Amino acid sequence: MERDAGSHAGGVSGRSSETPSLTTTQQSVESATYVHPSAICESTNVDTGTRIWAFAHILEGAVVGRDCNICDHVFIEGGARLGDRVTIKNQVMIWDGVTIEDDVFVGPSAIFTNDRHPRSGRMPEVGQRYANSENWLAPTTVCRGASIGAGAIILCGTTLGRYAMVAAGAIVTRDVPDHRLVVGQPARPIGWVCICGMTLETNLRCPQCHRRYELHNDLLRSVD
Ligand SMILES: CC(C)(COP(=O)(O)OP(=O)(O)OC[C@H]1O[C@@H](n2cnc3c(N)ncnc32)[C@H](O)[C@@H]1OP(=O)(O)O)[C@@H](O)C(=O)NCCC(=O)NCCS
Ligand SMILES: [Zn+2]
Repeated sequence: MERDAGSHAGGVSGRSSETPSLTTTQQSVESATYVHPSAICESTNVDTGTRIWAFAHILEGAVVGRDCNICDHVFIEGGARLGDRVTIKNQVMIWDGVTIEDDVFVGPSAIFTNDRHPRSGRMPEVGQRYANSENWLAPTTVCRGASIGAGAIILCGTTLGRYAMVAAGAIVTRDVPDHRLVVGQPARPIGWVCICGMTLETNLRCPQCHRRYELHNDLLRSVD
């Protein structure tokens, strides 16, 4: 589902650090960074090699690392942080308080949250709480190399461990350990996943790349 990295390289041009925030008519932020003419990138913290496709909107203050792929209709709020080589598929919204580390994959229409007990901040009874984000904002971290399946919902205040795999349509309500495969609503562990993304066999060997793993105190460790 990835687009060809070189297909729009002709739209790229360099910039100095003084270049103002991008609009639809200013199409590049860094040398070899591509912003589609129909995208809006207001952040000046998008690193080289990252591609931002049509109708994506990245707010000022958002940090996006290098060589990322931000697909159509993605929305990234100003307090979100993305590492390097991250793939965000179509129609994903990444709110303040969400941190996505290097090499993470977020499937189409996956949903993040950042308020466990939401109310309209305009409602007089809760106006005071919403005056300060410390009162309501619950951070979420997706650790290096993890994947989130299409349409999964990630409740805030959770951490998805390194190389974890969240099944399509799962609802994550608790932390997910490194390399854990979780499915269902609420998401429950049903297996372990290799660094390459394949589900491990019961002997903790990867059928794809043949890496081998061991369990130590419920933590998966590579033995290769
Ligand atoms: C979870 C997932 C990784 C499991 O793949 P797998 O290891 O090959 O597992 P299997 O297909 O053999 O399924 C194992 C069991 O889990 C169930 N299962 C698989 N995917 C599931 C899902 N998303 N939700 C609930 N149960 C699921 C299967 O029905 C099967 O149950 P059973 O043994 O009772 O029949 C995969 O099904 C998945 O959801 N991948 C994400 C796909 C995606 O969203 N891609 C986005 C980019 S397009
Ligand atoms: Zn593997």
